[in-house]
Amino acid sequence: MSGGNGQTMGGGQEPLLALHGVHKRFGGLHAVNDVSFSVAPGSIKAVIGPNGAGKTTLFNLIAGNLPVSAGTITFRGEEIQGKKTHAIARLGMARTFQNIKLFHGMTALECVMVGRHVRSRSGLFAGLFSLPSTWKEERAIRTRAMELLDFLQIADLAHVEATSLAFGQQRAVEMARALAAEPKLLLLDEPAAGLNIYETAEVARLITTVRDMGITVLLVEHDMSLVMDISDEILVLSFGAKLAEDTPANIQKNTEVINIYLGADDAA
Ligand SMILES: Nc1ncnc2c1ncn2[C@@H]1O[C@H](COP(=O)(O)OP(=O)(O)O)[C@@H](O)[C@H]1O
Ligand SMILES: [Mg+2]
Repeated sequence: MSGGNGQTMGGGQEPLLALHGVHKRFGGLHAVNDVSFSVAPGSIKAVIGPNGAGKTTLFNLIAGNLPVSAGTITFRGEEIQGKKTHAIARLGMARTFQNIKLFHGMTALECVMVGRHVRSRSGLFAGLFSLPSTWKEERAIRTRAMELLDFLQIADLAHVEATSLAFGQQRAVEMARALAAEPKLLLLDEPAAGLNIYETAEVARLITTVRDMGITVLLVEHDMSLVMDISDEILVLSFGAKLAEDTPANIQKNTEVINIYLGADDAA
C-alpha cells in the first residue's frame, strides 16, 4: 500500500490519532479487519467504502462506543482502546452520528449546552438543575453555545425545539454540540447524508472552517465530490479491510478503488 502502514504523509509530525492492527468481530462477522492508519493534526481525512464496509463500526471503536477485538488506538499519545466514551471525550474527541441523536424536548441552544458540559467543572446534572454555585459557569456555557450557533448560522433557531427543525438544521445543531466540547478531533459520520446540494456545499464550507480553527477532522461520507474537495487524505475500506490510503487525486486514479466503489452505483 502506498504511504506505508499507520504513517501520515505530512512528514515528521506525531499523528493525532493512530490505529494499529485494529479488528472488530461481531460473532462470525469480521466487521473491521486489521486496519491501521493515522491522522495528522490539522488535516481532514475521509473514510469511504461501500455500505457495510465497516466505516461506522470503525468510528464506534475510535470513540469508545464499542470495544476493539484486537489492536491499539492511540489518541494524543495515549492508548484509548478499552476506555469509556466520556473519558475519550474528555481527552478531546467529539463526534456526530450517522443517525442524528438530538434530545427530545430540548431547544437547539440546550442541546449545544449539553455538549459543552463534558468540559465544565460542575458537570451535566448540576448544570441542568442550575445549582446556585454553577450559575456563573452556566452563563459562560450559554454564551459559548450561542456563539457556536451563530458560527453555524442558526442563532435565530436557538430557542426552537431541536427535533422539530429541518434536517439540515438538525445536522448543524449536532455539529455545534460536538464543537461545544472544544475537541481536538471531530468525527463526522455522513455529515451530508440526506442534504441537498446547497446544504452539502454549506457543510463542506463548515468542515474546512472547523479545520482552519485548528480542529482535526475525520469523516465518513458518501458524497464523493464533497470528499474529493475537502479531504487531505482518503482511507478506503472494503469488507472491513483497508484497500487504499492516499490523496484524493491518487484515489481517483486507483483502479481497485474504482472497481469496488467509485465505478458502482455511487458514481452520482
Ligand atoms: N452492533 C453490531 N452487531 C452486529 N453486527 C454489526 C453491528 N454493527 C455493525 N454490524 C455489521 O458490521 C458490518 C459493518 O457495518 P457498518 O460499520 O455499519 O458499515 P458502514 O458504516 O461502512 O456501512 C455490517 O455487516 C453490519 O451489519
Ligand atoms: Mg455507516
